[in-house]
Amino acid sequence: MRLKCTIAALNLAVALVRQTAGEIGSGQTPPSPDPQPIEVIELPLPSVAPTDDEGSCTPELNPHRTGCMGRESVLFSGNFLPDSKHVLAFLNFTGAPAFPDSASIYTGSQLIIVKIDGTTFPGSDPWKCITCGVPDENQRGSNEGWDYPEAFKDGKRVLVGSNIVDCGAADLASSECTPEKIHVYPIRLNNKADGPGPGGSTRELRIHPDDYCYFSWLEFNPSPSSGLPVTPRYDLLNVTRLHRPANPHVIVAEGSEIRINSDALIVGELHGFRKIRRLTSHPEYVDPVDISPDDIWSVVMVARGTDRQMWLSAMRDIPSLTDLVSVSAVASTWNNVDGDSFNQGLLTVMKLNTAGDGNLGSINHPEWNERADRKWSSDETRIAYSQELTLPPDCGGQNPLPYPNSTANGGRVVRLMLAHLTNRRPLHLEPVETHSEVITWGKQYQPGDLDPERSLLPAGVYTLLGKFSGFAAVEIISNDAESAIHTVAVGYKNFLTIESTPSEAVRKSQTTRSFTTVHVDWYSDLTSTGQSSGAKKTSLFGFHLDIDIMKNMFNANDTLTTTIDGHV
Ligand SMILES: *[C@@H]1O[C@H](CO)[C@@H](O)[C@H](O)[C@H]1NC(C)=O
Ligand SMILES: *[C@@H]1O[C@H](CO)[C@@H](O)[C@H](O)[C@H]1NC(C)=O
Ligand SMILES: *[C@@H]1O[C@H](CO)[C@@H](O)[C@H](O)[C@H]1NC(C)=O
Ligand SMILES: *[C@@H]1O[C@H](CO)[C@@H](O)[C@H](O)[C@H]1NC(C)=O
Repeated sequence: MRLKCTIAALNLAVALVRQTAGEIGSGQTPPSPDPQPIEVIELPLPSVAPTDDEGSCTPELNPHRTGCMGRESVLFSGNFLPDSKHVLAFLNFTGAPAFPDSASIYTGSQLIIVKIDGTTFPGSDPWKCITCGVPDENQRGSNEGWDYPEAFKDGKRVLVGSNIVDCGAADLASSECTPEKIHVYPIRLNNKADGPGPGGSTRELRIHPDDYCYFSWLEFNPSPSSGLPVTPRYDLLNVTRLHRPANPHVIVAEGSEIRINSDALIVGELHGFRKIRRLTSHPEYVDPVDISPDDIWSVVMVARGTDRQMWLSAMRDIPSLTDLVSVSAVASTWNNVDGDSFNQGLLTVMKLNTAGDGNLGSINHPEWNERADRKWSSDETRIAYSQELTLPPDCGGQNPLPYPNSTANGGRVVRLMLAHLTNRRPLHLEPVETHSEVITWGKQYQPGDLDPERSLLPAGVYTLLGKFSGFAAVEIISNDAESAIHTVAVGYKNFLTIESTPSEAVRKSQTTRSFTTVHVDWYSDLTSTGQSSGAKKTSLFGFHLDIDIMKNMFNANDTLTTTIDGHV
């Protein structure tokens, strides 16, 4: 069982990358695969209620009396049921009539499944609410937050937030699976050395500022004798932290020298398991990936080709030293809103979302932003994803731009999409073997263990030697509490790594204003010549940037200009 380990999925993407034998970045970039036809359609969702008022979801809006969603409802698309014919989604119902009307159950955040083939469930809806009307006694002790739905391979259970939705012996898509048969079981981590108490959820592991990934055995406990909640639940057993303290860091200090380990590996955001190999080297951001069931393809959200980040992206062959203070701000510049929505327009090997005439309802309209995790169907013929329309005040501030008015059903600002790779034959893969309980290279988690702190580069003045000649003088300054790096200043002198020579200086300081808000002061006067020539220059008074990594509202003063091979 894999656990998600980040606070917010920064996501969206839409390129297919094929894994081949060549090592990218080693001069053996593999050729692009032949283009494949891709047909993209929008999947049906519930009708839209005009307001959140009780009863605003009228029988005229939904004659089947199976609920309405809100115009600005959240929408998380999940993966497919194992039949590859249903997509999971999590959304908000609203406007339900009052109890005892049978439609009163269609309210609040719920898990639904949507048919992808144009057929309907009994009752004539193309979707079915799985969690609407589940009796309270079937969901005792369940955890808040039902996001990122992910179906089990048995078609009967779904991981949602830190809970398992379970229909017992019935398939979720079958008419035998009724609300009375559904249970929502909490997932519990025994996180205290003395055992009892409420324990933790996967969410608690996620929320730690030093995110780590964990691997765990998930076991149903029908009648717990200790620990809260004392209700049927899933326990996390044999927990491994995917971290090897002895592994080298990317940037390490040895005496007065700094060394860069470009092969250092740190598990960041876990998106499945495969051999670790770098796949892309373009400086613009790439995140997240879903690896295809046969391990050959990845569907990835990529900024490359949009030029959205080139003005502040890295220059080739310049060591990533000042990233120590700017990485979260830079990574956040590709998002639009609440940490999980991005402008589309991506490319790598095969673009997914290019069809259409650019009009507002079309597949390729640039104001329909990609949301988190797109997912492969288990037969590898389809990919599901969701999108969100740009909303005010994202187009406001000092630069007001017209914002689009949705042409979707009911003016809804979210949509569920399905890409069909029409010339692929459905894959039938052998079931995956059960993994052993622990991952031997990781660290066994014991109840009560605290996450190890990621070691900080100590404050000081260092030298980083060029691979062939020259050096960089590096100064690291800690914040007052000595809990984080505040400033990194680097001056280069004839620094020769490959065939590029940076010179002059760059200095960046970061002030963390809250857990998620950072302010970066950036002073750069950097040029490099050789195989790849470029410059990164801030204006006379530097460049100053504020960003909340959860909201991604970007505010900056003064200018920063990056020039690569003569292009600004
Ligand atoms: C969705 O519903 C939940 C309550 O079930 C509410 O807390 C949340 O604010 C709603 N979100 C939106 C976007 O309507
Ligand atoms: C996994 O956890 C169970 C229950 O705590 C324990 O009995 C078993 O020995 C553990 N397995 C391994 C490989 O550590
Ligand atoms: C969207 O609708 C609002 C209110 O009717 C209008 O002011 C605005 O100009 C419209 N935007 C576009 C791009 O048409
Ligand atoms: C930009 O300048 C204004 C006016 O001096 C100041 O209030 C604001 O905080 C500055 N923003 C940044 C990101 O430095």
